[in-house]
Amino acid sequence: MSTVRAACPKPAAQMNATYADDTVIEWNDFYENGEYERIAYIGEEAMPKLLRRFFERHGAPESFASIGCGPAAAEFALAPDYPDTAFYGYDISEAVIEDNATHAAREGLSNMHFDVASLPNLGIDRRFDVVYCLATLYFVDGVDDSVNALYDLVKPGGYLIFNYPNRYTMWTFDAAFEGSRRDLFHRVVDGKNLLSYERIRHLLDANPKSYWKLMDAEALPFVGRDTPCVYLRKPEN
Ligand SMILES: C[S@@+](CC[C@H](N)C(=O)[O-])C[C@H]1O[C@@H](n2cnc3c(N)ncnc32)[C@H](O)[C@@H]1O
Repeated sequence: MSTVRAACPKPAAQMNATYADDTVIEWNDFYENGEYERIAYIGEEAMPKLLRRFFERHGAPESFASIGCGPAAAEFALAPDYPDTAFYGYDISEAVIEDNATHAAREGLSNMHFDVASLPNLGIDRRFDVVYCLATLYFVDGVDDSVNALYDLVKPGGYLIFNYPNRYTMWTFDAAFEGSRRDLFHRVVDGKNLLSYERIRHLLDANPKSYWKLMDAEALPFVGRDTPCVYLRKPEN
């Protein structure tokens, strides 16, 4: 099974709002509490290393966007070494965006920029060489629109990298999660936001390929059939 951080926001107890509103409340509560680690949610220390490998092999992009960036662990790890890359982090939670901006300013990382944006209607008025969305589609309503929104953000010739829940993730989470954790992942357990290579191909009219394979990461312990992670390169025109 995949490694998912033990620290997770608790679902709101009583809900009158939409799920999208609930998501903001859950994640804001979690981040406002302040007791989170700046570490990647899946793969932990491995993810910044894999992203660095991607930059080394495919060239450092001029612009990089992380959607659902959370504490932006991989981005903060790379930003000091890639001052010519503009890193943009977007998240539904205002609290983590403010924390990230404060941390970037304190570290003198003028190549890092943060703003609130939420899938699937991001409202981001620019395009990027690399768009990265990790451990976020679990929590999103409108997964088809979200995948399209992510791909729309990619410049021609650029890359989209994202992971998603599939039916194996659903079976794993269904067997493993109870209580508030199960509530948090309700979209996955209920099979509401599952994707597959075939579905992504249909949505984008482009072929997804394994990011794990591209990065020689298939043997890592958190990689399995329930943790698919793909990349696509957008045609030049
Ligand atoms: C598990 S964390 C992943 C953080 C980071 N990408 C990583 O891999 O460590 C999921 C993040 O998605 C954000 N999120 C949840 N729903 C979202 C949405 N609809 N749009 C944008 N971000 C969302 C949460 O606030 C949270 O920071």
